Amino acid sequence: MGEVRAEILSTGRAYPEGIMTNADLEKLVETSDEWITSRTGIKERHRAAEGEYTSLFAVAAARQAIERARIDPIDIGLVICATVTPDQILPSTACLIQAELGCNKAAAFDIAAACSGFLYGLTLANQMIRSGLTRYALVIGAEILSRYVDFTDRSTCVLFGDGAGAAVLGPTDEDRGILATRIYSDGRFAEQLYSPGGGTRIPPTAETLSGGLHYFKMKGNELFKVAVRSMADVSLEVLNEAGYKPDDVKLFIPHQANQRITEAVASRLNVDDSIVYSNIAYHGNTSSASIPIALDECIEKGKVQEGDLVLLASFGGGVTWGGVLLKW
Ligand code: ACO
Repeated sequence: MGEVRAEILSTGRAYPEGIMTNADLEKLVETSDEWITSRTGIKERHRAAEGEYTSLFAVAAARQAIERARIDPIDIGLVICATVTPDQILPSTACLIQAELGCNKAAAFDIAAACSGFLYGLTLANQMIRSGLTRYALVIGAEILSRYVDFTDRSTCVLFGDGAGAAVLGPTDEDRGILATRIYSDGRFAEQLYSPGGGTRIPPTAETLSGGLHYFKMKGNELFKVAVRSMADVSLEVLNEAGYKPDDVKLFIPHQANQRITEAVASRLNVDDSIVYSNIAYHGNTSSASIPIALDECIEKGKVQEGDLVLLASFGGGVTWGGVLLKW
């Protein structure tokens, strides 16, 4: 028997029906479709309606993944929800999802690593499966970022979208699965993307709410540079560790933050545009949901075949970043 690895057995995705186009944003702030498209690649993004909440989409995406994996929810030993926009502070969104799905023998917790949350989750699930602590794991990335977006701030409100993606992982002793993972952080850059109010440091009051302190604040320019460097570096690191080169990759899914970031990372890695997946035009930046949504779309479109090397790389608020290399 070969080495036991974790592999992704199936994926799923879900998002609100509501769509906000660049034309809709032109009515809210001083911006233009031309500026948004040329600076970010985004044309539209899904937006939750009143009454919709993060676990609603997380559960829908997870149900799809579980059905496709053809496993019983009771056999899932681990439910991770990567999110920075939980349903509520307590309990974790993962616990709400666990109950809804009937994963009654699972540990459940959230990961707050912003856009890197899904890769953080894959890394933990991989270790739990390899160590034999659990057989099946459910990893979800789910966000309703629009609740924390200031729709008077043109530098952030054009970027973010809502949605969820999920993956079911299980063990394999075949020559496939997760080959290498790396996750990192650097909290010295915390204020490059953060929400200053609403926690224990600045508790929510009528003043913090009217002052918009719960909204995301971002230094986009500075993040851009760190994002490109860290995603390229971590990609090379996981490739090196598994003994591969960028040329060997058949599908590269970077976190969908900005089309120009994607292109800059691809150019640093010197990989052909044809292997780089982008759906930013239709989703915007959905933070932790962006990679699992993209992976699910790639599977649906037949962009990933057995034996293919698939590279995932992310970067997000914290700041956090990570890379995962898979053999499909
Ligand atoms: N419409 C029109 N003009 C705008 C808009 C807008 N929506 N937003 C900013 N501008 C203006 C600015 O005010 C500025 O004007 P000025 O020169 O008169 O001051 C000008 O455009 C240029 O602004 P920059 O910020 O320099 O524009 P840049 O080309 O850097 O693009 C952007 C901004 C899109 C935010 C880019 O920096 C970016 O994508 N950064 C990375 C952000 C990111 O990925 N964040 C998420 C991390 S992941 C996570 O954890 C959720």
